[in-house]
Amino acid sequence: MRYRWMTLADVSQVHAIDQLSFSMPWPERSYQFELTQNENSILWVAEALPEQPGVPPRITGMIVVWLVVDEAHVATVAVHPDFRGLGLSKKLLALGLRTALLRGAIESTLEVRASNLVAQKLYEQFSYHVVAQRPRYYRDNNEDALLMTVKGLGPAYLQWLDTMLSDV
Ligand SMILES: CC(C)(COP(=O)(O)OP(=O)(O)OC[C@H]1O[C@@H](n2cnc3c(N)ncnc32)[C@H](O)[C@@H]1OP(=O)(O)O)[C@@H](O)C(=O)NCCC(=O)NCCS
Repeated sequence: MRYRWMTLADVSQVHAIDQLSFSMPWPERSYQFELTQNENSILWVAEALPEQPGVPPRITGMIVVWLVVDEAHVATVAVHPDFRGLGLSKKLLALGLRTALLRGAIESTLEVRASNLVAQKLYEQFSYHVVAQRPRYYRDNNEDALLMTVKGLGPAYLQWLDTMLSDV
């Protein structure tokens, strides 16, 4: 598995993962916008490298983090269903937060569906905790969002992220 910045060439595969992962996926043009128009957007992908020569690499996961002044907002993160449970999202989140921290982020926020316990467990490992509940935030099923935050991103947190990424 390799981790690198997202490029425009990745968008169709990224969009396919988005469609497999969310009931309200982003349109492809949103990723194109993030890549070309939003200089505060941090976009990483995970990519499985082929064992046989001639086979193209396959995008397996992605993350988008918006750096809003000193806050890193995790806009989306998803892993292809065939590659879940292998630790990819932990690497992607660590890479997104590391980039944001190095660019000045001191805290991070995100919204997560109240029913999405897998994602909540992931975020808790990164010291996010629930600070608010947004009733009927998701339009498709009126589900509540939990607003999760981690504060105090600093040298110790960066060191912890580096440990997480030591084999990347
Ligand atoms: C949430 C998601 C990104 C996790 O990706 P992943 O690469 O499978 O997760 P990882 O293998 O890196 O696991 C990270 C942590 O998530 C939790 N987790 C992962 N799979 C889990 C499962 N099946 N059951 C419970 N917890 C699980 C664990 O805390 C895990 O850490 P651990 O392995 O140390 O216990 C993935 O399930 C996904 O794409 N879901 C659909 C999109 C989504 O919900 N995105 C988040 C939106 S807020």
